[in-house]
Amino acid sequence: MTDGELTSIEMTGKKMNDKETTGKNMTDRTEPVSENEYPIAQIRQWIDRLEADHILPREQLVALLTYEQAECDVYLFERARHVRESVYGKAVYMRGLIEFTNYCKNDCYYCGIRRSAAGAERYRLSEEQILNCCKNGYELGFRTFVLQGGEDAYFTDERIVQIVRRIKECYPDCALTLSIGERERESYEAFFAAGADRYLLRHETADEAHYRLLHPPQLSLSHRKQCLRQLKAIGYQVGCGFMVGSPGQTPDCLVEDLLFIRELEPHMVGIGPFVPHHDTPFADKPQGGLELTLRLLAIIRLMQPHVLLPATTALGTIDPRGREKGILAGANVVMPNLSPGEVRKKYLLYDNKICTGDEAAECVNCLGKRIASTGYELVSDRGDYK
Ligand code: 5AD
Ligand code: FES
Repeated sequence: MTDGELTSIEMTGKKMNDKETTGKNMTDRTEPVSENEYPIAQIRQWIDRLEADHILPREQLVALLTYEQAECDVYLFERARHVRESVYGKAVYMRGLIEFTNYCKNDCYYCGIRRSAAGAERYRLSEEQILNCCKNGYELGFRTFVLQGGEDAYFTDERIVQIVRRIKECYPDCALTLSIGERERESYEAFFAAGADRYLLRHETADEAHYRLLHPPQLSLSHRKQCLRQLKAIGYQVGCGFMVGSPGQTPDCLVEDLLFIRELEPHMVGIGPFVPHHDTPFADKPQGGLELTLRLLAIIRLMQPHVLLPATTALGTIDPRGREKGILAGANVVMPNLSPGEVRKKYLLYDNKICTGDEAAECVNCLGKRIASTGYELVSDRGDYK
């Protein structure tokens, strides 16, 4: 697929074969017009209304997620870029991702480091290794570090507090983000008191039934949402998010996600395509689609003009220019990997993950060039929410 070719996809993310594509050609139609097909002028009007009001009725959100006219994407992305530039200009912020443990007590059906993934070679970084990643990152211009890991009981509140304190002592001009899952409110408060600034906790799906389909019974959507609300109340800059094209996801699920984002008003939203991992129950499920992911990035930008929105590694994994396309659809953050080379191939949430063989410096160089090619600029900045 070429850059300009932003065609329709099925909600499963499966690419249509030639026969299907021909069947849906606008000029040579052999199928009945689906009820989701609206005139282009109508779709543009809804895009304009979304930009002006930051919300639309459910049916119109569904229409924006399912329209089949690629020319509407061109307009949608243009509006999203306009809105992102009015808030953040041309800057793209970078976050240094430190994947410090791949032990996890959970068993989410989609995740390559789930407890039952017997093939995953487990590791933990020591405090010194983590600090070394920060040192390396700081020299490369990073002013945000993201500590991400599975839900690993080894990292008690005391250990996390200690790591947070040390990073903030060494790098007082940097923001520190935690992405370590669900914990007690008291733990979140302790991390915040120790200096953590931000917290990422994807809600994964805001639809109850869909949540059940993706997770074992021990996990609940209501608890996830409660954690997110607590984090926000404590004072963190908070990020929620979800996978696009995860098994069982429908346009209605995605509308629930959008309405939840609207309600929570997070500072960040992390979305990327679902990509199957061979050692999970979803090994044979199709991956999420590029076009739908880009469309959601743009819609989220129009709904929350100030949101910090990463063009994720998963997006770069399903398309060689996925992250660039994400930036051109309204994203304004990238999250290169700062983890030590030896462990990168072990933090595999999904198959074919990119950048697992590179040094952090190579990734920054490569991403800097990639972003420059879009007309935007990778900057060395904390990149706080404006
Ligand atoms: N494909 C894409 N994203 C995934 N994540 C976990 N497993 C996968 C997968 N197979 C995402 C989840 C999680 C984040 C850290 O990575 O949304 O919150
Ligand atoms: Fe890692 Fe390009 S971002 S090699």
